[in-house]
Amino acid sequence: MDSVARRDFMKSVAGAAALAATGETARAAAAPVAEGGGAVAGGPVFFSTWAFARAANERAAEVFARGGNMLDAVEKGINVIEDDPKITSVGYGGLPNADGVVELDAGIMDGTRHRAASICSLHSIKNPISVARLALEHTTETTYAGAGAFQMALKFGFQPQQLLTPESLRQWQEWRANPNRNTFWVTPENHDTIGMLATDGRGHLVSGCSTSGMAFKIPGRVADSPLVGCGIYADDNAGAATATGNGDLMTNYCTSVTIVHYMARGMSPQEACEELLRWMVRTDSKNRASASAVIAMDPHGRIGAACMNPQFPLQYALWRGGKSEVRNAVVLFP
Ligand code: GLY
Repeated sequence: MDSVARRDFMKSVAGAAALAATGETARAAAAPVAEGGGAVAGGPVFFSTWAFARAANERAAEVFARGGNMLDAVEKGINVIEDDPKITSVGYGGLPNADGVVELDAGIMDGTRHRAASICSLHSIKNPISVARLALEHTTETTYAGAGAFQMALKFGFQPQQLLTPESLRQWQEWRANPNRNTFWVTPENHDTIGMLATDGRGHLVSGCSTSGMAFKIPGRVADSPLVGCGIYADDNAGAATATGNGDLMTNYCTSVTIVHYMARGMSPQEACEELLRWMVRTDSKNRASASAVIAMDPHGRIGAACMNPQFPLQYALWRGGKSEVRNAVVLFP
């Protein structure tokens, strides 16, 4: 069967049912072609939301090249963004909640073990992705929040610190002083979360995500980024996905697991990303105007990226074969 005919077959309900009946996994069934149709070169791929993540991908590639595993690579890559005080939507320097407290969320998922860990509403610790990574390795539970997450970080040896920078404090004071302040979505530089997808080139996938969440959010608010199936999902049998934008909306659509399940039924990563956004609009036309963007990768390293509209244009960073670049995602409703 040629690749186009195969794709059509895979997309049909009958095709999906036939695959299920034979027990063939999406991984085995996916045609080994790279993005653009060429042969897969193999090797690791690091693929993240937003242009600022280029540095994160480069760090991840370096960690992997030096013998780290994919979880090490994703964690250390995301640390670069968490540590950067100029990025006001992740880690140190992230904009605080309505009370002026920086509350961080992160999650990481290992597609081989089908195992994730999430850290929510963590204060005073700048690297929630590292706390999540340690929770993944050293605990059997999955999601930790607030005081418990903070205590766990201390047990792991993290040092508490002030996460407000002069700039994030200034922005919060300005927001507080404004009687007409916006308490809804705020995107100071039109970007937010870092979500990273990675493969080792041999079918292993990891998904990681870290954010300070919606600027000036209601204290305790947690959205998609750290939650399994929403901001992160990875399954070596089908693919990995992550999301960025209005995390409350993304949570309600369980974006990442939905995309991965579309891929399990035969869609390419690009088709799966676009189908998720289309589904959001089919079920509620208001979502066409939403800040929604997603990226996905299959076990062969093929990628997909889409955003809903030009008001929330997603740029993504891609590292593949030593080449590190920033590209624009498909805008579904230009
Ligand atoms: N997407 C990040 C958040 O809404 O918290």
